[in-house]
Amino acid sequence: MGSPKGRTTDLRQTLFGAVFQNPLLLASGTCGFGEEVAGVLDLERLGGFVTKAVTVAPREGNAAPRVCEFDAGMLNSIGLANPGVNAVCRQKLPWIRAHVRHARVFVNVAGQRTEDYVRVIEVLDGEEGFLGYELNVSCPNDRHLRRLPFGLDADALAQVVASARAATRRPLLVKLAPNVPDIAEMARITEDAGADGVTLINTFPGLIIDPTTQRPALGAETGGVSGPAIRPMGVHAVWCARARISIPIVGVGGITSGEDAVQYLLAGASLVQIGTATFADPRAALRVVAGLQRYGRALGLQSIGELVGAAARERGSAPPAAVPALSD
Ligand SMILES: Cc1cc2nc3c(=O)[nH]c(=O)nc-3n(C[C@H](O)[C@H](O)[C@H](O)COP(=O)(O)O)c2cc1C
Repeated sequence: MGSPKGRTTDLRQTLFGAVFQNPLLLASGTCGFGEEVAGVLDLERLGGFVTKAVTVAPREGNAAPRVCEFDAGMLNSIGLANPGVNAVCRQKLPWIRAHVRHARVFVNVAGQRTEDYVRVIEVLDGEEGFLGYELNVSCPNDRHLRRLPFGLDADALAQVVASARAATRRPLLVKLAPNVPDIAEMARITEDAGADGVTLINTFPGLIIDPTTQRPALGAETGGVSGPAIRPMGVHAVWCARARISIPIVGVGGITSGEDAVQYLLAGASLVQIGTATFADPRAALRVVAGLQRYGRALGLQSIGELVGAAARERGSAPPAAVPALSD
């Protein structure tokens, strides 16, 4: 592997017809549409960001409280609050066009019917300012009486991905729900339906009950678990999917440091995202980028891409020479 130790490692990744200046993106729902975090973080130093979910109509979101912290992460049920696709075109994309040059932007798309996803894409597709889409398939599909989320139903998943694919030539990521029996199979279905990449993972369903009130802590009662608690499940999902699909994987879940991001890369992710950690430290993403650079330098890597999938590739071979302490 690589170049003499101490040399700067090239953090760039070339994917989906674009250059990402480093592999780190801000995760959907944790950075608004960029403008909301620009005062505390220089977005232009990141690989990119994914917007809050965009739906056809504006959504107020769920009853408060919408987030609740616990010792290993966070539970949220925001309810896809967003101004709707037309307002996103009028109010949000102009800011991105005026302020974002180097960071790559994906628009997260959500809906309750396949037609909703297609409609959002049709409205956005002629606009400038973003690279591609990330489909959030964790929303309940209201065509199904059981209201099963698209991401938990193989047929609904294949249909929504194929329909979105037919609606755009832009890069199409699909963000899968982790609570399925075989995540690699869902990733394979996604690839077969025409996606360009898979984002793994969305939050896990969870519940926190306040012992004082003896009631669920969130207004919506249940929510999605994020943060360090889900990191090993996210890395596992990437590892399993990497063995089954050939399109790029974007790893997300519980990243707080450069070493956490390295785990995802080693498991087979080409890019990574960070969400919950940025609530505690708005500059966490920059710390992760610095940590990746330190790790690459310590190992003498020429390119950070050398790590992608290396844990599986080098199974059974000797580990690299000990990496010096990397904490920041
Ligand atoms: C407050 C909050 C809002 C979120 N909103 C969205 C969303 O709109 N669309 C989506 O696909 N994921 C959403 N997510 C999931 C994150 O993008 C990410 O997949 C998840 O939080 C795991 O990463 P993390 O542990 O680094 O936070 C949200 C997460 C949080 C904490």
